[in-house]
This record gives sequence, C-alpha cells and structure tokens, in this order.
Amino acid sequence: MIYLKTPEEIEKMRAAARLVSQTLGEVARWIEPGVTTRKLDTIAREFILDNGGKPACLGYGGFPATLCIEVNETVVHGFPSDRVLMDGDIIGVDTVVELDGYNGDSAYTFAVGTISPEKKRLCQTTREALYVGIDACKPGARIGDIANAIQTYCEHRNYSVVREMCGHGIGRKMHEDPEVPNYGRRGIGPRLQNGMCFCIEPMINMGSRNIVISPDGWECLTRDRKPSAHYEHTLAMVNDRVEILTTFDYIHEAITDKFI
Ligand code: MF3
Ligand code: CO
Repeated sequence: MIYLKTPEEIEKMRAAARLVSQTLGEVARWIEPGVTTRKLDTIAREFILDNGGKPACLGYGGFPATLCIEVNETVVHGFPSDRVLMDGDIIGVDTVVELDGYNGDSAYTFAVGTISPEKKRLCQTTREALYVGIDACKPGARIGDIANAIQTYCEHRNYSVVREMCGHGIGRKMHEDPEVPNYGRRGIGPRLQNGMCFCIEPMINMGSRNIVISPDGWECLTRDRKPSAHYEHTLAMVNDRVEILTTFDYIHEAITDKFI
C-alpha cells in the first residue's frame, strides 16, 4: 500500500532529508586514510542527535549502528568497525535520519585518497545512473521505467546491477511501498503520482551482479569481491514533477578537492 503524502507531510520529509544530507556532509569531512569506520559512525550519530534527529538505522531489525558502511567489495549494510580506511579504498556511506516522525535516506560513495581510474569510473557511472533514474520520474511514468533506465545505462557501460536489493517508498517508515528496483522492464509497476515519496538507490558492480551475505547476516558483498558503488536520494512527486529532497551539496562542499 503506497501512502501518498500531504503537502504538510512533504514539508517534514524535506526537513528529514536535509538533515540526512547534512549528516553525510559532516561524515565527508572525516574520510581520509587512517580513519576507522567506527569513528565515522560516532561522528554521524552525534551530529544527528545534536540536530534533534534520530539515527533510524540504529536498532532497525537489529542493525547495530547509525551508518551502513560499504568498503570496496561491500555492496550494502556493512557494520562500522575498527577497520582503518586505506588510500585507494572507496567507501559507501548509507544512512537514514528520522526527524519529527519522518525519514530521510541517502547514500554516497567516497574516494579515500587516490583511487584507481576503474573505481573512479564505477563511482561516476553509478552516480550518473541515479540521476538517469530520477530523470525517468515523469508524471504518469511507472516504477519499471526508472528501473529500466538505470539498468540500461549501467549495462551499456559493462557494469552489473545488483538485483536482490532495491530502492523503496519512504515516509513515517524507512521502508514503505513501492519497491524501486534498479533493473526490469519499462511500463510495469505502479504509476508515479503526486504525494509519492521514494528512494532510488542503484547498487552497481564492476564485476558480476552476484552477491553473498556475510555470516553476520547483514553485510552484503560481491561474490567475486570486485568493487561495488552505491548512491541514493530521497525523492517526492510534487506538482507533477519529481523533487530531489536530499542533496549532495553538503558533501561536495566538504570535499571539493576529493570529488570523484
Ligand atoms: N538505505 C538503506 C536501505 O534502504 C538503509 C538501511 S538501514 C538498516 O536499505 F538499518 F537496515 F541497515
Ligand atoms: Co534506502
């Protein structure tokens, strides 16, 4: 069941989305070789709490942290740990903030120090694929149109699309209907309509699309251990057009020199 949001609710979604965007901007300042992913988690948790939000991942289905950490071959849902970031790593950071009862969800993949041209191209293509998906959000379009646009864009560039994980509706709950896959056929699935709030989050692999889940039951890795990238925005359909509620501007301000 898709919950269409009122203009008042969308205003709250904007505020939650702003706070999650600012959180990733804060995390961005700390990403460099030598830092532990646990440190990033602490920074994010304190920032969210200081700004009146709730770290929505913490405790969600038993998830133990504020941030989902995705180093190199991790696709999604990695735990922060004492792992030290190394020059050449890529690190996806995905988190959800609840503010005034509504959720904002965003993810971004960062370069640690100097990364290989292959990783750089993977990240660029995945970020572009997110915006290709957003461009498909015309009024009356269907979820399958978004999915197909992302899949086509990535596969034409010889990347593969993770299929087991999807974007999703969002609102009072982090995950609402509809599912928003990153692959599939045009013309299928629910139609976009005003008041819909949802997340698009391509998870794109350099090698095969196959994944494995680690023994902790959460961390999702590429089976071939080749790198994966992940970007996510929270969106709303308002006045017959898509509005991007989250923004990467805070991130890009923080890392002008390290921008992939
Ligand atoms: N953006 C992630 C998702 O939609 C956030 C997961 S939070 C977690 O799946 F708690 F489930 F890890
Ligand atoms: Co999400």
